[in-house]
Amino acid sequence: MAAAETPPYAGAPGEPGRPLHVAIVMDGNGRWAKRRGLPRTLGHRAGVEALKRTVAAAPDLGVGWLTIFGFSTENWSRPAAEVAELMALPKRYFETDIARLEREGVRVRVIGRREGLSADLVRIIEDAEARTANNTRFHLTIAFNYGGQADIAAAARRFAEEVAAGRRSPDDLDEAAFGGFLATAGAPPPDLIIRPSGEQRLSNFLLWEAAYAELVFQDIMWPDYGEEPLRAALAEFATRDRRYGAIVADDVLAAG
Ligand code: IPE
Ligand code: MG
Repeated sequence: MAAAETPPYAGAPGEPGRPLHVAIVMDGNGRWAKRRGLPRTLGHRAGVEALKRTVAAAPDLGVGWLTIFGFSTENWSRPAAEVAELMALPKRYFETDIARLEREGVRVRVIGRREGLSADLVRIIEDAEARTANNTRFHLTIAFNYGGQADIAAAARRFAEEVAAGRRSPDDLDEAAFGGFLATAGAPPPDLIIRPSGEQRLSNFLLWEAAYAELVFQDIMWPDYGEEPLRAALAEFATRDRRYGAIVADDVLAAG
């Protein structure tokens, strides 16, 4: 786990009206399949194609970081056959796309617990991360076997271990320092979190990091996602007035 490093995004905040970091809860694969009379499995496979379209479109739309929720710690409660299909998705994605990602300057990271994943899957993940480790054009993070609360608890545990070992003092801990213990250490916080499928919740995704994210919910099912829905979400983001708890300059003057 990387300790807080100099943020690679320093000096490059998203341009006004444009998110630097977009995070997406990929949702609606099952409903997409059901509407077509198909097994859920095919919805998940179509979801991988949607991911490819979205990753291909994002850099040209000014997005520098894309984090997607691929498998949550709660998804283990699905039927075993569906879990097996979801577990096979990273392989399906990287097998067909890792060479292109590598070539196109995409840095791939996978966050979440490696425990519980097969040795084969861990090897595929590590290979994808290693092959793209020197890329800087675009940052793709896949949250897989990830839960926001679990990540916060793990960060607290790691900090406590540092204190117990005498390397850190409780006084050292502020928001920035704590962020350095999370799986997302070194990444800018998400400016925009998108959830398709009509559901309007975070479902344990990037809980700490989402503090000032704008939320956009879209009715489209994930397998239908791609450039146009992403453009629409970015257009919605551009209309938002982000104040981070402050008030706008005109109102400061009015307040005297
Ligand atoms: C998202 O689609 C797949 C993941 C678990 C990442 P769902 O499988 O949740 O689809 P719905 O919600 O049943 O339509
Ligand atoms: Mg769902």
